[in-house]
Amino acid sequence: MQTANSSAEEEIFRVRKLEIADKNKGFIELLQQLTVCDSVSDERFQERFQELAIYGDDHLVCVIEDDKSGKIVATGSVFIEKKFIRNCGKVGHIEDVVVDSSVRGKQLGKKIVEFLSDHARLTGCYKVILDCSTNNIPFYERCGFKQKEVQMVKYFI
Ligand SMILES: CC(C)(COP(=O)(O)OP(=O)(O)OC[C@H]1O[C@@H](n2cnc3c(N)ncnc32)[C@H](O)[C@@H]1OP(=O)(O)O)[C@@H](O)C(=O)NCCC(=O)NCCS
Repeated sequence: MQTANSSAEEEIFRVRKLEIADKNKGFIELLQQLTVCDSVSDERFQERFQELAIYGDDHLVCVIEDDKSGKIVATGSVFIEKKFIRNCGKVGHIEDVVVDSSVRGKQLGKKIVEFLSDHARLTGCYKVILDCSTNNIPFYERCGFKQKEVQMVKYFI
């Protein structure tokens, strides 16, 4: 059963699509908690935002804004890959999931991953996949994922 408190938190922590204005609400600073992410000029941000918008539902960046502080406190993205295999099937790739360190442990990460997974399912994907560090395995298991195979990578820079 939902308590008055938890429904109040629901309202404060709603998942929505990224908007251009989020650049000035700490979106880049949040990504800096995930990995190397230099500052991005307003112009480059808008350019990249427009580039991604062309993909429509095939590329989604979602965020949670803390209504009280006006800060972006969680984000994640999903890219829909169109394949020839599996009857021209589609696969969702989840990337760049991060929750602000001040609000971790409040189910926001799970909310983001569920939102992205639902998007992949609703756009017709037969599965959704992601890479993560071993210490995040329990988190993704809580989100309904299971470990399968290994990740390989080749860096160009
Ligand atoms: C990983 C991360 C996104 C989790 O976000 P969060 O909001 O703190 O996680 P949630 O509160 O939604 O946790 C959901 C469940 O996973 C569990 N969980 C979360 N992180 C965990 C961890 N490191 N080890 C074990 N369990 C964990 C929670 O206890 C919770 O369990 P419950 O459903 O039984 O209550 C967050 O810690 C983070 O941003 N880390 C830094 C960036 C990062 O590593 N991102 C992932 C890139 S792949």
